[in-house]
Amino acid sequence: MAKKVLIVIGSPRENGNSTILAGEVARGARDNGAEVETFNLHKLMINPCNACDACRKENSKGCVINDDMQMLYPKLVAANAIVIASPVYWFSVSAQTKLFIDRFYGLGEHPNNALKGKQIGIVLTYADADPFISGAVNALRMFQDIFNYVGAEIAGMVYGSAWKAGEIESNKEPMEKAYEMGAELAA
Ligand SMILES: Cc1cc2nc3c(=O)[nH]c(=O)nc-3n(C[C@H](O)[C@H](O)[C@H](O)COP(=O)(O)O)c2cc1C
Repeated sequence: MAKKVLIVIGSPRENGNSTILAGEVARGARDNGAEVETFNLHKLMINPCNACDACRKENSKGCVINDDMQMLYPKLVAANAIVIASPVYWFSVSAQTKLFIDRFYGLGEHPNNALKGKQIGIVLTYADADPFISGAVNALRMFQDIFNYVGAEIAGMVYGSAWKAGEIESNKEPMEKAYEMGAELAA
């Protein structure tokens, strides 16, 4: 059975660096037989978790916020692998990415979150050449904590420095690593 790979992008730049790397992940996954779907979070209506705890009530059918997460939730549950591609904004992930992450709360209480057992791929782009100075390490650390908490496996992290939209294309290493990560997630 073909692996299902769900890719979400948290950049508002349509031809931006995280989108380009996410495209390489998708290409690597498709070339190796996976079914890939990609969504740009900036184009979706995703509200913040409002901590209503409706998802925690007995016989709850999950999150009750009526927005585009209702379309993404079943895709997250069905996916074998989930790839999150974000720019570094203010030494962490973009707000679009963080809104999406907060809504994982609606996927079930610890230790039974529906992301348990999934394979995760992380893609990060940032302007400063140094991943420590850029804040990329904060974001990477956050992803490690999140996916360790829900019992998912981070299968790969691809990160690279670029400032203007599209600049990452001339940085061979993350481009190749992104393709390889896609291939690995498809296997
Ligand atoms: C609001 C904002 C905040 C940013 N904050 C950081 C930062 O903290 N560290 C950094 O290295 N780059 C920062 N950048 C630069 C972006 O991370 C960089 O341009 C990245 O390549 C953007 O990815 P994208 O093309 O996928 O949108 C910031 C850019 C914006 C617009």
